[in-house]
Amino acid sequence: MKVTIVGAGAVGASCAEYIAIKDFASEVVIIDIKENFAEGKAMDLMQTASLNGFDTLITGSTNDYSKTANSDVAVITSGIPRKPGMTREELIGINAGIVKSVASSVLKHSPNVIFIVVSNPMDTMAYLTHKALGLPKNRIIGMGGALDSARFKYRLAEALGCPASDVEGMVIGGHSDTGMIPLTRLAARNSVPVSKFLSEEKISEVAEATKVGGATLTKMLGTSAWYAPGAAVSSMVQAIACDHKKMFPCSALLEGEYGLDDISIGVPCIIGKNGIESIVELDLTDAEKEKLTTSAEAVRKTNGLLEE
Ligand code: NAI
Repeated sequence: MKVTIVGAGAVGASCAEYIAIKDFASEVVIIDIKENFAEGKAMDLMQTASLNGFDTLITGSTNDYSKTANSDVAVITSGIPRKPGMTREELIGINAGIVKSVASSVLKHSPNVIFIVVSNPMDTMAYLTHKALGLPKNRIIGMGGALDSARFKYRLAEALGCPASDVEGMVIGGHSDTGMIPLTRLAARNSVPVSKFLSEEKISEVAEATKVGGATLTKMLGTSAWYAPGAAVSSMVQAIACDHKKMFPCSALLEGEYGLDDISIGVPCIIGKNGIESIVELDLTDAEKEKLTTSAEAVRKTNGLLEE
């Protein structure tokens, strides 16, 4: 398995590191526009190989896409991250052009590649990639829900006073502070609904903290987070590499699922060697359906900015 990561910044490098440590890929190529930056990150990571015990070959390149030839998966993290107080949507002006151009350059050298789009505003960037490349819909996956769900589980575990590995929780909808839908009704501790342990008020506190999870970290760090985003992407790449058929909420192009059409938004997907192998349609309550419709309207509004 050969993986390309476009963007050697915080998320791209973290993703490369987790992929290497998990040791399932033969090769990772990191590309960046900044002279020698990807090469430097790759060299630094390769110098951890004997310490961390991995055999993955990591190389870097300044904009030479021929080095990415025949990649199985490409992760797009290039662009700018938000600063404290910014929304993800405010990044569209700069990131749309970058995502479109790097995705085309990757595809030229890797005709069978599966894309994982990370750059924000992610749902719109995934939609843009679909529109620009016209690939089968299983081959373009937006990463947002895997991260948001991990943050939901972190907050649930904190409230429950138990390890996050004991917790089930899923976030669907748009990858934005207002668009995320933590499915509190389905959240559980070892299969027991969390309502058995937590008050309604505490559960909604957890849901609210989840929705602003990214903004909270951006305020603390001065830029957006990278460890959990990198870990989330690497788990998705691993599910493709190892054909795990693992379920992640992902931004998928919908064609009638959940009553939505021509939009990329977070829904549970089975991820395996073909990328999105299927979309899982949950039986949502009327209130949850309404939230998803509102979330989709917001994503469509951001998609509309692509035409301006
Ligand atoms: P960063 O600024 O650390 O890294 C971005 C890198 O992209 C830089 O090294 C820059 O030189 C490179 N770049 C810019 N234009 C390029 C081009 N045309 N070709 C190749 N490389 C180019 O940013 P960070 O923190 O890594 O975030 C990257 C993106 O991911 C941001 O848009 C951020 O908002 C998004 N993000 C998305 C998450 C999600 O859950 N979907 C989570 C965290 C971040």
